[in-house]
This record gives sequence, C-alpha cells and structure tokens, in this order.
Amino acid sequence: MQVFKTLSEWRVFEKEIKELNKSIGFVPTMGALHQGHLSLVDCSKKNTDITVVSIYVNPTQFNNQNDLSNYPMPIERDLQMLEERGVDFVFLPEYELLYSDNYRYRVLENSVSSELCGAHRPGHFDGVLSVVMKLFNIIRPHKAFFGKKDYQQYLLISEMVSAFFMDIEVVPCEIIRESDGLAMSSRNRLLLEHHRKIAPAFCKELASNKKCCEIISSLSEQGFEVDYIEERHGRRFGAVTLGSVRLIDNVKI
Ligand code: PAJ
Repeated sequence: MQVFKTLSEWRVFEKEIKELNKSIGFVPTMGALHQGHLSLVDCSKKNTDITVVSIYVNPTQFNNQNDLSNYPMPIERDLQMLEERGVDFVFLPEYELLYSDNYRYRVLENSVSSELCGAHRPGHFDGVLSVVMKLFNIIRPHKAFFGKKDYQQYLLISEMVSAFFMDIEVVPCEIIRESDGLAMSSRNRLLLEHHRKIAPAFCKELASNKKCCEIISSLSEQGFEVDYIEERHGRRFGAVTLGSVRLIDNVKI
C-alpha cells in the first residue's frame, strides 16, 4: 500500500495505472475507520482494478468547532486497517494542498443542500461538495463509492457530478450497522455508555410504521434531542443528538 500526500506523487502513480489500462476506484473518508468504510473499500475492489482511499478531516464542512476538534484521528490504526483490506493507495492531503485558495472558491447547491442536515448545519454541504470536487479533480477516478448512511450527501454528490459533466460513476453502498441496529459511525465511539445503550432505539423508531411526529415524541421521551425526522426522496431521514454526539440515519420507505 502506497501512502502519498502530494499531487505530484499521485500524478506519477496515475500515469503508471493509466498505462496499464486499469480502472481507478475512489473512497473518500475522514478516517476513524470502521466496517462501514471498509464495506466501501470492498465494493471498490470488486468493481475496479485499483482502490484509492483518502483520509482528510475537512474543516470547511464542520459548522461546529467542538465537533471538529473532538473528531477522532487514529491514523496509524486506520492505515493498518486499509493495508489489511488490500487498499492500493491512501491519500493524506493537507489543508495547504486542498485549500491554497483559502476556500475563496466553493461549490454551492441551492435546494437539496438546504433541507434536512443542511437546515441544521449551515454551510456543511458547501464544504462537502467543495472538498469532494477537489478530491475528484486530483484523483480522477472512474468510480467513486459513497455510503447510503449519508444519503443526502450521496444524492448531492451524484447530482453535482452530473451537473458538471464529470466523467465519474458515483456508486451508492448499503448502510452497515452494529448487531443492535445502530448505523456504524466514527462518532459512535464518542457516545457515553448510557447513551450508547439507548442509541439503537433511533433506527428502530425510524424503521417503525409510526408517523414522523410520533417518532419525534417517542425519541424525545427516551432522552434523545431530535433535530428532525422527515420523509423525502422515498426515504425517512432522521438526526438526533445524545449528549454532544449527533447521529444520523435513514431508511427506505
Ligand atoms: P465519513 O463520514 O468518514 O464517511 C466516508 C464514507 O463512508 C461516506 O461515503 C459515508 O457515507 C460512508 N459511511 C459512513 N458510515 C457508514 C455506514 N455505517 N455504512 C455505510 N457507509 C458508511 O462522509 C464523509 O466522511 C465526508 O463528508 C467526505 C465525503 C469524506 C467529504 O469530506
């Protein structure tokens, strides 16, 4: 597994890959990897010849400074997990490379990005779309893999790719859950023990046949702070906070 930090290193590898006529699969992440991320790696390995994973905790998508400074960064462990999974390349860019413009230029979307998580996290999806556009332009993958766990993000990225005629196939991958149903997330490890115990009620309520307003009452009674439970795009979406940890999930309806 090759780890690289600069554009020039990647251009050398990329030239070799293209000369061998091999396809490139890309899995962008913010690290603190778990089985959800690794399932995207598996999907990429199954569908492309070479798999590139990026690890970058993107500051422009955090609207809460505490959330950014608390974001776990177990980089050595992450690299070991990726190596064991058979990843070919890991990209570890730094702020100066990705944001030499100091975020003067950005990708904006003015509809889907303002609903659901966008309504509660102003600027979040501008940061996501901008960094993903930059990463796509650096890696130039044939296919890129995203989890349906962040379904709104997947939708926005796949529509960005089509709006800007980018020659990349955006592949959605299934949500990976803990045995009790809780969707895997890098933030789960920040949950206090008593919050971790009640957390699975979130996905159970979301998947129930109750109305959204009933789910909101029931979760609030159980100690969740509910941001939203809403139905859009053929799915039911939810975001809740337990202590200082924000969890999101969604199910098909
Ligand atoms: P991150 O939260 O690290 O997630 C990276 C990818 O893993 C995303 O596509 C996300 O949907 C997927 N993922 C996370 N948990 C999952 C689960 N339980 N099952 C399936 N897939 C899961 O999403 C981001 O990073 C960032 O916004 C990024 C796209 C990297 C841009 O900074």
